[in-house]
Amino acid sequence: MTPIVVARREEAEIALAREIVALVQERHRVVIGLATGSTPVGVYRELARLRVQEDVDFGAVETFNLDEYLDLPSDHLQTFARWTREHFHAPLRISSERAHFIEAGIDGYEQLIQDAGGIDLQILGIGRNGHIAFNEPGSTRESRTREVELHPWTREDAAAAFGGLATVPHRAITMGVATILEARRLRVLAFGSRKAEIMKRVLEDAIGPEVPATFLREHRDLVLWLDREAAPKA
Ligand code: PGA
Repeated sequence: MTPIVVARREEAEIALAREIVALVQERHRVVIGLATGSTPVGVYRELARLRVQEDVDFGAVETFNLDEYLDLPSDHLQTFARWTREHFHAPLRISSERAHFIEAGIDGYEQLIQDAGGIDLQILGIGRNGHIAFNEPGSTRESRTREVELHPWTREDAAAAFGGLATVPHRAITMGVATILEARRLRVLAFGSRKAEIMKRVLEDAIGPEVPATFLREHRDLVLWLDREAAPKA
């Protein structure tokens, strides 16, 4: 897994948005796995811009969210369902029946993904502790969609958005490592100096559950973009 290191994160955001647009223009019905938060937001902003500028029709795109907090009211501002509706589905004019959200008690999420033909392209970030989605350290290669306890660093990193650590949920639901690795294309982004330490481990440590993002190295069609700050120093 050789990362592409870019001088500015916008270069990666534009490249990934362009790839998604090319797929959508070629096939129309494309199944996309969605990450949330500060890492992918620039890609979604660029997609919204391209929709208008190049008149791209995203109407046949189907999406599956990667993860979700548990124990929040469904209309809570910080749910990932709400976040992706605002930053992805609404600006790209994707109707609600094509948007799939992972939620408490969901049994059939993996089946729904299979029924849709599998995920064509999964957008993914990497946590400071090496998590992918909410597959925290200790998550195995075989893990599937399930409820998990959030790692202290994950809760800390979410504290600002929740107005303090006390109100950050302790539990979440997430696609598993195995689920993520089944996506046909994995497109991974990591930006900023706070990711540099973990990116060195993701690229160099033995593959295993201690740093779940190391499992990404087993995927055949993966592109990892880093900005200079996130790239391990030579
Ligand atoms: P971030 O997190 O977008 O807050 O950097 C990435 C992740 O945890 O996957």
